[in-house]
Order: sequence, then C-alpha cells, then structure tokens
Amino acid sequence: MKKLIIANWKCNPDSPGRAAALAKKIDRVVSPNNVEVVIAPPFPFLLAVRSVLKKSKLGAQNVFWEDVGPYTGEVSWHQLQHLRVEYVVVGHSERRMWLHETDEMVGKKVSAALKAGLKVILCVGEPLAVRKQGTAAVLRYTRNQLSRAVRNVPLKNRGRIVVAYEPIWAVSTGLGIPCDSFEAEQMVHACAAYLAIKEKFRDVRGIYGGSVDGRNIKLYLDMEYIDGALVGGASLKAEEFKKIIKIASKI
Ligand code: PGA
Repeated sequence: MKKLIIANWKCNPDSPGRAAALAKKIDRVVSPNNVEVVIAPPFPFLLAVRSVLKKSKLGAQNVFWEDVGPYTGEVSWHQLQHLRVEYVVVGHSERRMWLHETDEMVGKKVSAALKAGLKVILCVGEPLAVRKQGTAAVLRYTRNQLSRAVRNVPLKNRGRIVVAYEPIWAVSTGLGIPCDSFEAEQMVHACAAYLAIKEKFRDVRGIYGGSVDGRNIKLYLDMEYIDGALVGGASLKAEEFKKIIKIASKI
C-alpha cells in the first residue's frame, strides 16, 4: 500500500506567497502512484496552496463541527468542503494543550467530519509523565483518547480514518525526542487495531508523528504496520520534505 505523508505546517509560513512557493516545490516531486502526500497549511493559505497543487492533496489542521452559525473564529467542515479540502487533522496535541481542546470537542469534530465525507487524521499520544509509567499506562491513555473520539460516530460512518500516534514528548515543540521506531510501530498498530477491531472502523490507516525528518523517516516507514507519517517542522523545509517524499515513494 502507498505510504501517506502529511505536511502539518502549523502556524507557518508567514505569507500566502511563501506558502504557495513551498507547496509548489514539494508537489513537483510527488509521484502519486507511489506515495500519497497531503499538505495542511493554515486556513488563510488553503486557496493559495490549492492553486499550485497538481499531485498532492489538500488538508486542514482543524475543523469545526457545526455547518454555519454564530461561532466566532471557527471554520466549519462545510466551509472546508467548499475549498475542496480532503483531509482534516483532529485532536492535535498542540490544540489539546494550548487551546484546551477536550476529548469531547475532538469527538464532535471527528463525528461531523466523517459524516461530511472528509478524511480524518485523528491524533492521539501520551505526555511524558504517562510514558514514564510504562506501556500499560500508555495503552490505556491512548485507548481512552480513541474511544472518546469515536464514541458518537454511527456505525455507518465508521469507514475511512487515519490514526496518527504522536507521543507529545516526541513532537518537536515538546522534547523533540523521536520515538524509537519499534515502539512507534507497536503503538501505531495498537491504535489502528483498536479502531478496526474494537470500534469497527472498516478502513484504518496508522501513521506516526513526532520529530520525523529525512534521516529517520525510513526507520519508521520500513515498519510493516506504519502506513505513513505526520511531519511538522521538517515539512517546512523544501529539501528535507522532498527527501522524505522520495524515500516514502520507494518503500
Ligand atoms: P514535528 O511535528 O514533526 O515538528 O515534531 C509533528 C506534529 O506536530 O504533527
């Protein structure tokens, strides 16, 4: 199966011109038969990025659960559909941490986005304090996040979903220590299996995120149960991200 590589640009770059230029450089090296690449810029740059993409897909970093209405500052799944956004990131640890996004909010977003036919990239992952308690605690923590995120999704909408295992300490904005690839695979597999077997999702892909770069990407993608990567910092450097895409295309 083709690997899925997602560029999570977070709140970068600083202008639509720079966003389009970066997207164009990245898109050029994508061979869609061998790899699936998604670029998730900040909302204001979605149009500029879309206009240069030929082979990559468009993603958004967040989504609001209502379609329209008095929700100041929010961008809904309905509005994203108009922009032809295909993927949405939900539950990123930075949003959970700094914007106090709760499991309940994550659940509403997942339900609304799946109902709307958007492809959800659901992020889960434990903080360092939980990691220090050992594997059982990590499994318990992430399973809790997963079960709460999908609790209200009706069976008929339990189709395609991407689960991104991103331990908070591994993300570059945390401690930035990349997770050991063997451990990452075990967790990615555990998360994907939980959604497929326990929660009855039909088409689950499991990816890893947290300080992925051109040097370590192969370690992760060589793992049988890791279907791709969610890349933050390294996706803002054209050469680095192109290297990641090229490696992913050959696996
Ligand atoms: P990072 O970010 O690759 O910079 O660690 C990953 C993410 O937050 O999705």
